[in-house]
Amino acid sequence: MDGIQLIDVSKEFKTADSYKVALSSINFTIHEGEYIGILGLNQSGKSTLARLLNGLLKPTRGRVLINGMDTDSPQQLKEIRQLLGIVFPNPDNQLICPIVEEEIAFGPENLGLSPSEVHKRVSWALEIVGMQEMRNHAPHLLSGGQKQKVALASVLAMEPSYLVLDEPTSMLDPLSRREVLEHLRMINQENHMTIILISHNPEDLMDAKRLIVLNEGSIYMQGTPKEVYGDMGKLGAVGLNPPGLYQLIQQLEEEGYRIDDNFETIPQLVEKICQK
Ligand SMILES: Nc1ncnc2c1ncn2[C@@H]1O[C@H](COP(=O)(O)OP(=O)(O)OP(=O)(O)O)[C@@H](O)[C@H]1O
Ligand SMILES: [Mg+2]
Repeated sequence: MDGIQLIDVSKEFKTADSYKVALSSINFTIHEGEYIGILGLNQSGKSTLARLLNGLLKPTRGRVLINGMDTDSPQQLKEIRQLLGIVFPNPDNQLICPIVEEEIAFGPENLGLSPSEVHKRVSWALEIVGMQEMRNHAPHLLSGGQKQKVALASVLAMEPSYLVLDEPTSMLDPLSRREVLEHLRMINQENHMTIILISHNPEDLMDAKRLIVLNEGSIYMQGTPKEVYGDMGKLGAVGLNPPGLYQLIQQLEEEGYRIDDNFETIPQLVEKICQK
């Protein structure tokens, strides 16, 4: 079966003097082409989940299947990692080459692609993250935000079916953040790449079509952004606030405005209210 399936997955960490349940009994399916947001506060298990998806970590219990292949099976790991790319939160751990261009070409070259195909992918990935002018620079001399963009480009250039991004905008200023999110939306719509965007920031996940909210290692809520962000009480109970747009809607509804669902941005909402 195509897609990502987690079947009753738990992950526990044992250290010399402690024992930690990072994830417990997680079940979900992600279909190819979806845009999923995974939301949770610090330590809710988000990064553990990301690492389980490409077999960097094995579940203590349960199964993680990528297009039907089990991450527990060593023979299938190579294929799983070609299908599913992860952008990690700290780009310093991901960048290894002396030149940006080489960094981005590294993955596609290892896939055995022709030099012209590698060149095409490098240019495409650099353009998506807006780093064309930096292609001959040294990654270690870039700013944190620029490194984060290069790390994203190097995974994009592999053209994975599933792109997992663990807090990819944590070092970006608001403009770069908005640009990267806009590109992710485009890659999902136009290239049909499956996006799994992980963040503690609800504003980052506004473009997702479905949200999975983690709390203390369990799935706490699931639904469309409107369903999840519309339930301020339930979100608030675990210390999460919906994006400003949804807070505004809630307040307008409390004042007696009936807001229909057909909008995605604040200007669209304002237009609807002004028409009334
Ligand atoms: N290798 C490990 N050994 C022991 N405990 C771990 C390990 N990795 C994660 N944990 C624990 O598992 C829990 C979940 O951690 P995880 O990094 O998945 O959370 P997170 O949601 O990504 O948090 P953050 O928002 O801070 O990145 C935490 O309590 C963490 O301390
Ligand atoms: Mg994390």
